[in-house]
Amino acid sequence: MAQKKVFHGAKKSGEKKGNDKKSVAKKNIAVKKAPAPSVNQEEMLLQTLRGMRDILPDEQPYWERVRKALAHASQEYGFRRIDLPTVEYAHLYLRTVGEGTDIVDKELYLFNTRGGDRVALRPEMTAGLCRAYIEHGMGVLSKPIKLFSIGPVFRYDRPQEGRYREHWQANFDMFGENDPILDAQTIQLAYRVVQQLGLKNIEFQVNSIGTPESRREYEKALTRYLEAQKNKLCQNCRERLVRNPMRILDCKEDKCIQLTFHAPQSLDYLDLESRDHFKHLLEYLDELELPYTINTRLVRGLDYYTKTVFEIRSTDKDGKNYSLGGGGRYDRLIESLGGEATPAIGFALGLDRIVLEMKRTQVKPYQEARPRVFLAQLGDMAKKKSLKLFSELEKNGILIAESFGRGSLKSQLRVANRLGVEVTIIIGQKEALDDTAIVKDMVSGTQETVTHERLVDAAKKILKTNQDLRV
Ligand code: HAM
Repeated sequence: MAQKKVFHGAKKSGEKKGNDKKSVAKKNIAVKKAPAPSVNQEEMLLQTLRGMRDILPDEQPYWERVRKALAHASQEYGFRRIDLPTVEYAHLYLRTVGEGTDIVDKELYLFNTRGGDRVALRPEMTAGLCRAYIEHGMGVLSKPIKLFSIGPVFRYDRPQEGRYREHWQANFDMFGENDPILDAQTIQLAYRVVQQLGLKNIEFQVNSIGTPESRREYEKALTRYLEAQKNKLCQNCRERLVRNPMRILDCKEDKCIQLTFHAPQSLDYLDLESRDHFKHLLEYLDELELPYTINTRLVRGLDYYTKTVFEIRSTDKDGKNYSLGGGGRYDRLIESLGGEATPAIGFALGLDRIVLEMKRTQVKPYQEARPRVFLAQLGDMAKKKSLKLFSELEKNGILIAESFGRGSLKSQLRVANRLGVEVTIIIGQKEALDDTAIVKDMVSGTQETVTHERLVDAAKKILKTNQDLRV
């Protein structure tokens, strides 16, 4: 395991990882006893915060494949991109995601700014999206208004594989239409993305939690059912019973899961409108032949949903059973924030989990285009000229590699060989003096000396010949 490094000269980390706790605690005591250190003298653990991570270059080809699939899908389905701030007024989340939800009660990164504003790192994007919709008067645009957003979100969750305190989401949301065909299209879009990413064994779980009016009756029935067995619930759920009983269905504690197994189901309490809506959605999904199941326990951990809720899960027995994405309708959210009544539906994909699933099921990552030309140089003057030639070739659409830091021609050619390029351009001292370059065809082994003006054409000609030979 790599050794943890403690550096002096920057601010101290507030939270420590695993085994470091004791030693860090000792160090902190020592720091307290000493005269107040200046910021520069304080020590810093040179590591990410718990539950946060770097996404290193080796992992990027998986992320690139995901980004490309998302860009493609959003274009095909007519979504326009929107970028939102990562920090918003905290009350936005308290009012939308809801007090009594884990996300707000336990997982919100909440703080006061120097100016005294109470703010939060976004734990999801829907609330911010609705704030932006109202703030920028998007209601006047022709409907449905389709928005796509991608970025990190923050939840102070218990970290483990697939669960991070900073994770990435891609959100697709549509505003202004009530029709269940949009619910079906939303699910179809989610399916299209996971399919394009090569993920197999994916299942959609759908449910309807009805309108807030029909839910009132349901919540009463659920409370009655659970009240009778209150003592068997976990401490959190006992509190939820009073504040937000539906959240008990999200609880991950075994005893609460057992207890809610035979609890009343929202589908039995739907009003006519919600029932009709759900019936049509199922008909559309059948028509699309999408692999879905009805999960009557699915309520989602956010308060703003109405009618349709859904989740995307991997069904592979060997895999972790977590949700790769989820969403639903939130027809009352904009209105509850003070905007005009505007129905909406959308979903978010959890990109970290999607990448994990891609790796687990050995989906191929995105393959970067390989450089086909290598530029080698020998001597000071050649080095200077190479820099300009590199830019010349690159501007002409030639993907080129170099190793400017290496002096010896032999070691540069070794790099060229390792990369498997088709053309090597060599500028030695003589070539530098008379503004020429040696262009070597690595496939046939032939070479010629050309002037700088002819260099691009000479390289392109060899690349084209090789391409033609391959076809
Ligand atoms: P959510 O289900 O809370 O929905 O999050 C969406 C997805 O983010 C989850 O399905 C999961 O894949 C991923 N996710 C959640 N928490 C974590 C975590 N701690 N670490 C890694 N991945 C995680 C929402 O956030 C809604 N705003 C989605 C939505 C959009 N509804 C309508 N529009």
